[in-house]
Amino acid sequence: MEKLELEIIDYTHDGLGLGRDQNKVVFLDEGVIGDKVIYETLKEKKSFKRGRVLEIKKPSVFRHPSPCPYFENCGGCSFLNVGEKVINNWKEKRIEKILSSLADDTTKKGKLIKENSLYYRNNIQLKVQNGQLGYYSKKTNKLVKIEKCLLAKKEINEIITLLIKQDLRGLKNIYIRQNYKNDIMLILEGEKISNKIIASICEKVISLYEKKNNEFKLIYGKSYLEEKIGEIKFKLGPGSFFQINHQVMNKIYELAIEKLDLKKEDKLLDLYCGIGTMTLIGAQKCKEALGIEYVEEAVCLARENAEENKIENTSFIAGKVEDLLNKIKDFNKVLVDPPRKGMDRKVIEKLLDLQPEKIVYVSCNVDTQKRDLEILKEKYKISYIQAADMFPMTPHVECIALIQRVKS
Ligand SMILES: C[S@@+](CC[C@H](N)C(=O)[O-])C[C@H]1O[C@@H](n2cnc3c(N)ncnc32)[C@H](O)[C@@H]1O
Repeated sequence: MEKLELEIIDYTHDGLGLGRDQNKVVFLDEGVIGDKVIYETLKEKKSFKRGRVLEIKKPSVFRHPSPCPYFENCGGCSFLNVGEKVINNWKEKRIEKILSSLADDTTKKGKLIKENSLYYRNNIQLKVQNGQLGYYSKKTNKLVKIEKCLLAKKEINEIITLLIKQDLRGLKNIYIRQNYKNDIMLILEGEKISNKIIASICEKVISLYEKKNNEFKLIYGKSYLEEKIGEIKFKLGPGSFFQINHQVMNKIYELAIEKLDLKKEDKLLDLYCGIGTMTLIGAQKCKEALGIEYVEEAVCLARENAEENKIENTSFIAGKVEDLLNKIKDFNKVLVDPPRKGMDRKVIEKLLDLQPEKIVYVSCNVDTQKRDLEILKEKYKISYIQAADMFPMTPHVECIALIQRVKS
């Protein structure tokens, strides 16, 4: 196979090296912006090639040694070997590039929201193979054994230290969640959970669950983790979504609610509402708020959360947004925070039909967000965009967009 040389000029959306060979884009399996590499072609099409880096001929000036001993192989993160400024720039530019066709001269842009780059994750999923604990490797489903993770909170790392001393055979996945006051919820999934593991770990956690066939069984402690946002307390269950970065989450929620500019007479619809975090924050500023979410456990907790915080002007419906939105009318402010795949086409069409004055779209995938906003452009304009580094050291970025109705 022919060996070729190129300079890495960008990253792909999933954080891999990207270069150019004459008129073709070359997608590589690794590399840092600025590296000069020797690569071989694995696949060639009319406009692009896929290649494998064989050698880094001249390392980029942005490269530095990774502080993580597992970085070379571990698939847990992507950018621990490159200067943060380069990555921040790349994340900002990615948002601009993707959304620029939608924005106009009047669109305001906020600066990237940025907090701690390490020890920020409050939720991790570890794999277990033959009793060994780790993450999958960057390129295969082979396990990379780890004893710590620099992205996870320190208390989660303490649990990892305890777990690796145990006989983990029979387990498949381990989920560790941590709340704002550093309590731990541990979820063990596998064929066999030995009493020895349970005895060794239960005093270190506030909640211990077994997961089997997608069902959760409480083995020890409390059934939920307590979360707190501002003055509102939330119960979080093992099967419910919660943002993985507390500091950035608080800023995003504040921004989303501020941009909706909620008034006493407003009616707020919160689509994909999880345990009702933004629904309850927003409800305090408006006449009423309705949350829709398809995880039953999350909806039950959202209702409990409303009751326990005495926020009475809220209601929640369990089900798929695309199935339920037809029955909804008369909401003038809408929040949407869908999963990575974005909104179902039916949901977007129904929003065009409902015609709320303002929609705040929070997304963890700017590609699907752009696709959805392109359709909403029929009646809306983008007034504000801001990116947030919810997932430092990974290629992911959160984006918050405010769109306002211009046509009816
Ligand atoms: C990115 S999370 C946002 C949750 C919440 N807004 C928050 O900040 O905690 C997306 C949520 O949408 C839910 N979800 C995914 N697809 C859905 C659908 N088709 N209908 C309703 N809820 C859905 C997930 O269970 C998850 O709770």
